[in-house]
Amino acid sequence: MAWRERIWAREGVDDDTIEECTQGQPDQVIEIEKPIVGGDFARAGAGASEIKRLVKKLAVPPAVVRRVAVACFEGEVNVTVYATRGTIKARITPACIFVVVADEGPGIPDIEQAMQPGWTTATPEVREMGFGAGLGLPNIRENTDYLKVRSEVGTGTILEFAFLLRDI
Ligand SMILES: Nc1ncnc2c1ncn2[C@@H]1O[C@H](COP(=O)(O)OP(=O)(O)OP(=O)(O)O)[C@@H](O)[C@H]1O
Ligand SMILES: [Mg+2]
Repeated sequence: MAWRERIWAREGVDDDTIEECTQGQPDQVIEIEKPIVGGDFARAGAGASEIKRLVKKLAVPPAVVRRVAVACFEGEVNVTVYATRGTIKARITPACIFVVVADEGPGIPDIEQAMQPGWTTATPEVREMGFGAGLGLPNIRENTDYLKVRSEVGTGTILEFAFLLRDI
């Protein structure tokens, strides 16, 4: 098997932009990391909530806080629903908020297809809990300035996404 990768970015944003914006003096950088447990629906979204609380406290504009909360929640829930275990990490610098959601799980065979609104492999049980509309990944893309999805079938999935806090 092989790792596959797809990147979506707002116009003018690329890997170099992300590399640059995630730098910062240690005293200007805040990092938070939370575990995600596959199947633990009672705690799904807990990590996203903590990240939301943190960015709110850092006086990030409310519109950005909302986008961060939505993207983190959707990423975290996907790990809960589809994977065995994972982590959600946020790195906050003066220039951007950079989030990594990584899991050990089945991986995504066709990233392009998974990104289509309405595409889902959710089971009836998952749908009964209110998930499985096939809108999580499209929602993440819409709410971020940069999104990279990497996945290997049988290994897992890594989402990296960013919110710029300054004009580029
Ligand atoms: N971390 C993951 N590991 C494995 N497969 C995933 C992962 N995240 C998403 N997928 C696959 O991509 C599909 C689309 O994901 P997406 O989040 O857009 O929708 P959903 O989770 O099915 O429904 P919703 O997010 O609206 O509740 C999923 O049904 C699943 O097949
Ligand atoms: Mg989802």
